[in-house]
Amino acid sequence: MAQQVSGSPFLKPFSLKTPVRALSPRRQRRHTLPASEFRNLTPQDAISVFEIEREAFVSVSGECPLTLEEVLAFLAQCPELSLGWFEEGQLVAFVIGTGWDKERLSQEAMTRHVPDTPTVHIHVLSVHRHCRYQGKGSILLWRYLQYLRCVPGLRRALLICEDFLVPFYLKAGFKEKGPSAIAVSAMRFQEMEHTLCGQAYARRNSGV
Ligand SMILES: CC(C)(COP(=O)(O)OP(=O)(O)OC[C@H]1O[C@@H](n2cnc3c(N)ncnc32)[C@H](O)[C@@H]1OP(=O)(O)O)[C@@H](O)C(=O)NCCC(=O)NCCS
Repeated sequence: MAQQVSGSPFLKPFSLKTPVRALSPRRQRRHTLPASEFRNLTPQDAISVFEIEREAFVSVSGECPLTLEEVLAFLAQCPELSLGWFEEGQLVAFVIGTGWDKERLSQEAMTRHVPDTPTVHIHVLSVHRHCRYQGKGSILLWRYLQYLRCVPGLRRALLICEDFLVPFYLKAGFKEKGPSAIAVSAMRFQEMEHTLCGQAYARRNSGV
């Protein structure tokens, strides 16, 4: 008999093939990892997060959106604003957000979580290098936005990105708010906004 386990309607449920209580303690340790699992991240995931982030950004721009200390701090302060995609227990993609309380993002937003606000600042979306261009970034972002729609009080998501990723976020339903006031070294960014109200149960075109 399959038992469904899920923390939220949009975090994908996975199956335990046998009721846990029916197994001997020795058999319980030999459970099978779910092939694919979406869940909020915890500080215990920080090293895996940072490894993916470092590979994705340091080789390209020399700068990580979040330091390891910031990853640890945000996953402790607001784990409910993060989402990880795990395949057989390995993190393959993640998104990390924090709360923000102003109309536009400012430099201060890069290092701060403001609790109980209607705005999520998405700091980073990243896919493991072995898994890019397979649709995972788009799927994770879509699931994350669907999940945020179910978090009481949230109204919109903001992010900044370099020009080359604007088409990616437009495809995901974000709108351009114009050049961002934030600068990191010589990098300049566009600010993008996604409204979270309504369409809570809209399906992605791909049918995922
Ligand atoms: C950007 C990223 C999250 C996209 O995830 P993904 O799983 O590779 O992307 P998908 O397969 O869902 O979608 C592919 C689309 O992503 C966009 N894209 C991905 N990488 C890109 C790049 N380096 N330059 C331009 N567009 C890119 C394109 O729009 C592409 O569509 P196309 O093939 O029609 O051009 C992923 O490539 C990544 O982790 N990159 C490194 C970290 C990063 O830049 N994160 C975003 C800023 S926080």
